Amino acid sequence: MTIIKNNGYQLPEGSVYQPATTTNGAISGSQTSGKGKVQDRERHSVMSSNETNSDRKSDQKLRPQHLKEYIGQSHLKMMLTMSISAALERKEPIDHVLLYGPPGLGKTTLAQVIASEMGAKIHMTSGPSLERPRDIVGLVHQLEAGDVLFIDEIHRLNKVAEELLYPAIEDFMIDLTSGKGHATRTMRLPLPKFTLIGATTKAGSISKALRDRFGFSCRLDFYNEEELAKIVERTGGILGLTIEQTAVVQIASRSRGTPRIANRLVRLVRDFAQYKGKKEIDREIAVEALQSYQVDQSGLDSTDRKLLHVVINNYDGGPVGLDTIAATIGEDSETIEDVYEPFLIQAGFLQRTPRGRIATALAYQHLGKNPPANQLSLDFGRSENQSNSFEDNDEKP
Ligand SMILES: Nc1ncnc2c1ncn2[C@@H]1O[C@H](COP(=O)(O)OP(=O)(O)O)[C@@H](O)[C@H]1O
Ligand SMILES: [Mg+2]
Repeated sequence: MTIIKNNGYQLPEGSVYQPATTTNGAISGSQTSGKGKVQDRERHSVMSSNETNSDRKSDQKLRPQHLKEYIGQSHLKMMLTMSISAALERKEPIDHVLLYGPPGLGKTTLAQVIASEMGAKIHMTSGPSLERPRDIVGLVHQLEAGDVLFIDEIHRLNKVAEELLYPAIEDFMIDLTSGKGHATRTMRLPLPKFTLIGATTKAGSISKALRDRFGFSCRLDFYNEEELAKIVERTGGILGLTIEQTAVVQIASRSRGTPRIANRLVRLVRDFAQYKGKKEIDREIAVEALQSYQVDQSGLDSTDRKLLHVVINNYDGGPVGLDTIAATIGEDSETIEDVYEPFLIQAGFLQRTPRGRIATALAYQHLGKNPPANQLSLDFGRSENQSNSFEDNDEKP
């Protein structure tokens, strides 16, 4: 598979790189500012599902290349396997695919897997890099029949770019405009048939018009412990490590359902074991390493616990608005919503309701507190547990 990077997109090491147009639009993750936060930031980077530089360095080596190696997401894999083999038989590119779900669950990986299963070249870019019409025009002009165009953070495409893309993905046409005012001319040029793969952590921020143009909308779910254990074993194998089964289980259970975090914890444990002069990674060394990063049994880090603590102690368990939580713990709302909340909701510690966030009985227990008597009724039937559904748009207490 050939990978082509476009417009400042941060491509993992070891990939083929051909610069196209030169907009500066590197992907930005969440950022905290202020010197006092440096330590916090370092710790965040361990458990945050957002991509860090060291992830980027090792990711490409660890990324599965084929559907067979891609662990979990079985429903999605089955659907893709069928569509890919049908498309290959027809000698056509597969329909456009939208991948959505929290960071670190394997969207970029899956886009590359799809391209390699199709035997296609993949052009990688991101929403924020496609600022001007000419960025899009330049990009689609490089496409050849059957290529895959991957747009990460597709929810960050601006309106102009989005509208230029519509005919490109619907009819494989691009509208070129020249001149100004009365002299404006539009010329429609045909494009080769290609596959657009869009990825986003914010499905709710995508316009319906764009969403409707994808043949497949695929939600990636958090991984269960069995799947994470397989990922830990696979990563250990690639890195040439010997990890005892009990240590594998420890790492998997603390990975917040996220392969990126599982891989990061494997690297941390490896470094720790090396530092301690251990050749094999057993349960003891894994637990010691993980505890030093303040990751608890359920995969919660200090920020998760602080968040639950605030909802429970400062706001009587909720409901409390996202912005209020953000202001109290000194994080930005977006980071909480994209990075921390999805897992807390999925793991049953937090609920999203139209009136705000509520800590569940499980959260009380996790912090060693007794849930209030009315907590059980609060837990019942009021959650909107799917944090990445398209309906997210409408709800922001
Ligand atoms: N299904 C999977 N099986 C094995 N490893 C995976 C899987 N999904 C993701 N990974 C690993 O997790 C890392 C992060 O995945 P990535 O595709 O970058 O996530 P996203 O684009 O959703 O943020 C990759 O390096 C890859 O090695
Ligand atoms: Mg990605």
